[in-house]
Amino acid sequence: MIKKAIIPAAGLGTRVLPASKAVPKEMLPIVDKPAIQYIVEEAVSAGITDILIITNRGKSVIEDHFDHSFELEHILNARGNRDEVLSELKSVAHMANIYFIRQKEAKGLGHAVLCAKSFVKDEPFAVLYGDDVIVNKEPVIGQLIDAYKAYGKTTVGIKEVSKEQILKYSTMKLEPLKDNLYNITDMIEKPKPCEIFSLYSILGRCILTPEIFDVLEKIPYGAGGELQLTDAMKQIALKEGVVGVDFVGNRFDMGNKFGILKANIEVGLNHPEVSEELKAYIKEIAKTI
Ligand code: UTP
Repeated sequence: MIKKAIIPAAGLGTRVLPASKAVPKEMLPIVDKPAIQYIVEEAVSAGITDILIITNRGKSVIEDHFDHSFELEHILNARGNRDEVLSELKSVAHMANIYFIRQKEAKGLGHAVLCAKSFVKDEPFAVLYGDDVIVNKEPVIGQLIDAYKAYGKTTVGIKEVSKEQILKYSTMKLEPLKDNLYNITDMIEKPKPCEIFSLYSILGRCILTPEIFDVLEKIPYGAGGELQLTDAMKQIALKEGVVGVDFVGNRFDMGNKFGILKANIEVGLNHPEVSEELKAYIKEIAKTI
């Protein structure tokens, strides 16, 4: 029943400069695909058919990636010996109905979500953060969709993080519902040490209802002078509770230098073309560390 997703990808990516100066962090490669392609594939495998990617002035290369590349396709066709590459290249342009809108100024994740108001209209929708790649056989956004179907409430993907990380992310006040599901009754974005409710934080995925737009239009700008999505979800948590899914999946933060390295190593270790070579290489360099 959830057919629409938005992927906010208009952030400045300051933590991975200079790599993200001319190449959006969402386009940084994990082995052989840009990060955002893994995210689109996750959405599609959970049954999403319509995806709005929020970009900005420096990110038109994302649009090019999900379009046809006639010149490349023509050349590969003419060579006649790269069938797999050719069909993969073509399939990227056909994965889903992909739309783009520009966030004119990077005023925060909440502001980026607000840019999707006319696309979403009156349906619940998925949000997949453009720099959070989560690898798992069962798509994480599908795990959240299942929880949304069961409870019909705003649903967020959560994980326990370290004490250092929680200060940079968000903290959740929660109580167990069942299995890996929690009822979240409050949350704080970038908490001070004395404000930490728990080490559970929202990481990269949520299911929102159109109610979020009314809240986003009313709340003030928050941490870092940005319109914070967490501040809007907090209002919903206080009013009716939000469902937290302690999801199964390996998350890589592509907005962070170490996250990019980890993603390439872990995905590489499972990649049929490079895994053997990479394993041998890691064993070899491990001797010298
Ligand atoms: P981040 O807070 O990681 O993005 O937002 P950022 O601003 O690029 O981070 P810095 O500069 O390294 O600190 C999470 C997601 O929300 C998007 C980002 O592109 C990222 O995918 N985002 C963030 C927007 O689309 N618009 C914004 O104004 C802010």
